[in-house]
Amino acid sequence: MNLCLVLGARGRVGSYLVRMLEENDIPFIAWGRADCDMYNPEAAGELVANSPAGTIINCAAVSGIEECLDDPVSAHYINAMSPQHIARACARQGKKFIHLSTDYVLDGTRPGLKNESSICKPANTYGESKWEAEMRIADEMPDALIARVSWVFGNMTRPSFPEMVLKRAMEGSPLSIIGDKDSMPTFIDDLCQWLITLAQGDTPQGILHLCQSGTPVTWADYARETILAADEAGLPLRSKEVTETRLDDQAGFRETRPRHTAMDSGRLASLLGHPVRSWQDTLRQYIRTYAQNL
Ligand SMILES: NC(=O)c1ccc[n+]([C@@H]2O[C@H](COP(=O)([O-])OP(=O)(O)OC[C@H]3O[C@@H](n4cnc5c(N)ncnc54)[C@H](OP(=O)(O)O)[C@@H]3O)[C@@H](O)[C@H]2O)c1
Repeated sequence: MNLCLVLGARGRVGSYLVRMLEENDIPFIAWGRADCDMYNPEAAGELVANSPAGTIINCAAVSGIEECLDDPVSAHYINAMSPQHIARACARQGKKFIHLSTDYVLDGTRPGLKNESSICKPANTYGESKWEAEMRIADEMPDALIARVSWVFGNMTRPSFPEMVLKRAMEGSPLSIIGDKDSMPTFIDDLCQWLITLAQGDTPQGILHLCQSGTPVTWADYARETILAADEAGLPLRSKEVTETRLDDQAGFRETRPRHTAMDSGRLASLLGHPVRSWQDTLRQYIRTYAQNL
């Protein structure tokens, strides 16, 4: 791969990707907010244009749902306008551009797996800003790759849902988990490997869903599978029973969440030329590693 520039290199995905590029001896530049502040879209575009990198992977975003609600201006500049300016710079300079997006751009009102042609209808400020980015990028650079990801887990230094469940289970705290919202987990190890593979050679263009395979899973069932895997891995669990709560009863959620945004990974499988691993298999692999490192 030619020199790769990772934006958002200190985030959950960006930091893991940088580690994997390093392990694979792929030359890269890692930029955080101090190197390229995406609150300033014109400057971000210029910095990318002037960088020696031939491939840009944008993992930077305001990714907190309530954070976007509270600061929609930052969400607009960082999530939508900067990616547009970066896409413009990449198109002008002949650089590849891979931009990370989200399942939250999708219409989450109907159950079922969503593919790349499914209707978009974001339910909140975060999703709107990410969808705006997708459209602005497609206008500036039709051959950019817009990679949607969902429920990313597996970066031990940035705990996500499984670690939250395991912490509570090991403490003996109640496992009261939302049972009426579903999506599709994405194992960060697979995700970063896909990003590296896709960045090499003939990078596909347009929208691509990067997630594991399976049927839509609710947070409650995701928690149950986490507990099962942890039991198999011999983790000392003091509570194991998952009870279900409702999305509408979450006092901490000031912003709307879409209910059904599980993505189908069929296009990814055909591009890779092999099946995508199920979320359950990858979760088990991760929990075994987690248990060994406790
Ligand atoms: N994690 C998931 O489950 C998930 C699900 C769906 C989609 N995604 C998408 O995947 C991508 C990566 O997500 P993530 O989980 O790695 O997010 P993350 O951990 O929140 O990381 C985002 C990064 O963006 C950087 N950033 C924020 N404001 C910036 C600014 N003004 N200028 C430059 N950088 C800035 C942050 O820098 P600081 O470290 O300095 O704050 C942070 O390192 C995002 O596009 C997100 O929307 C993630």
